[in-house]
Amino acid sequence: MLKDNLREYIIARKKELNAVIMAHYYQPAEIQDIADLVGDSLQLARQAAENPAQVIICCGVKFMAESAKILSPDKTVILPSSEAGCPMADMATAEALRQKKGEYPGAVVVSYVNTSAEVKAESDICCTSSNAVQVVRSIPEDKVIIFVPDKNLGRFVQGQTGREMVLWDGYCPIHDKLSLEDIKKARKRHPSALLAVHPECRPEISAMADAVRSTAGLLEYIKNSEAQEFILGTEAGFVHTLNKHCPDKKIYLAYEQFICKDMKLIDLEKLAGAMESRENRIEVDSKISGKAREALDRMLQIS
Ligand code: 13P
Ligand code: SF4
Repeated sequence: MLKDNLREYIIARKKELNAVIMAHYYQPAEIQDIADLVGDSLQLARQAAENPAQVIICCGVKFMAESAKILSPDKTVILPSSEAGCPMADMATAEALRQKKGEYPGAVVVSYVNTSAEVKAESDICCTSSNAVQVVRSIPEDKVIIFVPDKNLGRFVQGQTGREMVLWDGYCPIHDKLSLEDIKKARKRHPSALLAVHPECRPEISAMADAVRSTAGLLEYIKNSEAQEFILGTEAGFVHTLNKHCPDKKIYLAYEQFICKDMKLIDLEKLAGAMESRENRIEVDSKISGKAREALDRMLQIS
């Protein structure tokens, strides 16, 4: 089918299904452009809890669709590609987390939303990159904190809060790949540009950045900054978002292949196919879902 026909079909089918299409900022341009809501992980989780539509089409990766289902268990949640996962989320299992909790009895487990439902169910509170600092600040000073799974975000939060934490040895392979050498090259090419990065980047990169923010935070920062040029330390799909919201700013990706393959598994054809078949529905076991919801709700109450 031609792209225009696919778009028409998606819009018509959305009405039939009483559906809302949500997309993360890293999604391909054609998906961001047809979505009803485009946002970062926190905004998508909030919308999943609040949006009145009966069907949520989640254009992102599995942990995002799972969070939507946990927060709206009575709704149908569809992830248009069943293969869209998150390699960082796969770095923490519930079994390994139970073992770690055994090593630190009484510790508070803060899990990044980039985790499976099972890991969330073993956690006390979730966080996203938007609110991780606030979440950690909400935990009493005398408590040991186990932070799962992103060690880079964990180090950033440690720096912001002054709290010592037990860090999981996980990381996002795409953000962690950004090196000092890449920054040196980008700065040589664009000497007037500011460096704006996601906290999933390595600590030495965050330390030299002009801004370290979640995707939604970076959008606000770049939109409101008086500077005109930015070296962007996050996924390529976000360049489209920035070009749309701040067309006057020049955005340079910090390294060429800053691409999350999982985020690129959905296109118009996949989206239309999933809406037609209503396959790839996300289900979460009710025992897991109940506990995971407590951790997500605690996060949503904080920010
Ligand atoms: P945000 O919390 O900024 O949406 O990031 C999610 C993510 O997967 C980053 O790699
Ligand atoms: Fe996971 Fe990294 Fe992809 Fe985000 S960019 S979904 S953290 S692999």
